[in-house]
Amino acid sequence: MKVPPCSYSSLPSWTHCKNALIGFIAVVAVFIVVFIAYHGASSARLARFYKSKRYDPSKTNKLCKQSPRQEAINWNYFYYYEDVKTKKSLVWCKVPKAGSTTLTKMFLRLAGAKDISNTTRIHKLLRNYYPRLSSKVMTHRIRDSKTFVVVRDPFERILSAYRDKLESYERDLEYRDGYYYDHYGRFMVKDEKTGMTGNFTTTRKEPTWPEFVQYLLKTSVARYDEHWMPITRLCSPCKVDYNIVIKMENFAREIRQPLNYAKIDVASLGWAHKTGTSTNRKIINGYFKNLTLTDVKKLYAKYKKDFQLFGYTPFKYFKLFNNNNEQNKTVTE
Ligand SMILES: *[C@@H]1O[C@H](CO)[C@@H](O)[C@H](O)[C@H]1NC(C)=O
Ligand SMILES: *[C@@H]1O[C@H](CO)[C@@H](O)[C@H](O)[C@H]1NC(C)=O
Ligand SMILES: *[C@@H]1O[C@H](CO)[C@@H](O)[C@H](O)[C@H]1NC(C)=O
Ligand SMILES: *[C@@H]1O[C@H](CO)[C@@H](O)[C@H](O)[C@H]1NC(C)=O
Repeated sequence: MKVPPCSYSSLPSWTHCKNALIGFIAVVAVFIVVFIAYHGASSARLARFYKSKRYDPSKTNKLCKQSPRQEAINWNYFYYYEDVKTKKSLVWCKVPKAGSTTLTKMFLRLAGAKDISNTTRIHKLLRNYYPRLSSKVMTHRIRDSKTFVVVRDPFERILSAYRDKLESYERDLEYRDGYYYDHYGRFMVKDEKTGMTGNFTTTRKEPTWPEFVQYLLKTSVARYDEHWMPITRLCSPCKVDYNIVIKMENFAREIRQPLNYAKIDVASLGWAHKTGTSTNRKIINGYFKNLTLTDVKKLYAKYKKDFQLFGYTPFKYFKLFNNNNEQNKTVTE
């Protein structure tokens, strides 16, 4: 077989061309091997995720398939920690209103931060100590670390967000200079005369819980604040293979798993007896009873993936309306 002359050499010699050819083939081969290894690894991870018993696999499988394939992982909420001595590392996806203050304080203590008493400041401070890493770096870190996320009953979480950020204007002023009123609350309160929102004629500073829910229903999830943004959107559970999914209800017990893995001394953190801050069921029901069943179902549709992926049920909310009350309410609405 005749070997074509190497174009950059005016006096082609067989040895010269052979080396060039071998070099070229080697580069192509390496490229192919890397390509196959990379894709093989990621699809194996995906397969493992679907098979895992951490979530309900049949539901997870179906739900994850519904999400657009090209949807990129949102790395904004991820934090990487490595123990300097043991080299064991953790990746935490921080979900606001799901143990985030407790864990933020813990991560800051681990990084040697001194003043962590101001809970308004700590969340910004956290990024100073744990900078946002690039998608490329995080993709690698995730493979070599225990990855964990704390999840919570979606309705409990949004109620907690409402009570913390919007129910009291005074509280909002004191902790955040009225940020939540300015950006959200004033768009939610209904004008007494017209029944319209967004006119800013009403002097009322605090949206009621049903007004907040109306706002959620008519707003695209993509435009939600992080405190009521579904966890599925914050932490990409269909793309990230979480090793540990901690339920807020069992926070004190389940948080030990990632901490023990990274050899973090739980006792030294000073919250060994913290039992999580789940809200009393009676209080929760009081709020949800003030909504209509129709709206609770619509709200469920917004948070359906969170409910299903993390194993929560909406039925205890639907059941609150198992009487004639509902009909009367819908009529007078
Ligand atoms: C906490 O930090 C915020 C922002 O830096 C500041 O405005 C506020 O006064 C601080 N609060 C206290 C109690 O120190
Ligand atoms: C707001 O309400 C006032 C009085 O009720 C009305 O005159 C005005 O047109 C409204 N503005 C908007 C933007 O709806
Ligand atoms: C439910 O609505 C009633 C009547 O408007 C109100 O008095 C009560 O405070 C509301 N409950 C909650 C928990 O918001
Ligand atoms: C619903 O309304 C009807 C008639 O308007 C009334 O008789 C009934 O007591 C109401 N039910 C409840 C649970 O308030």
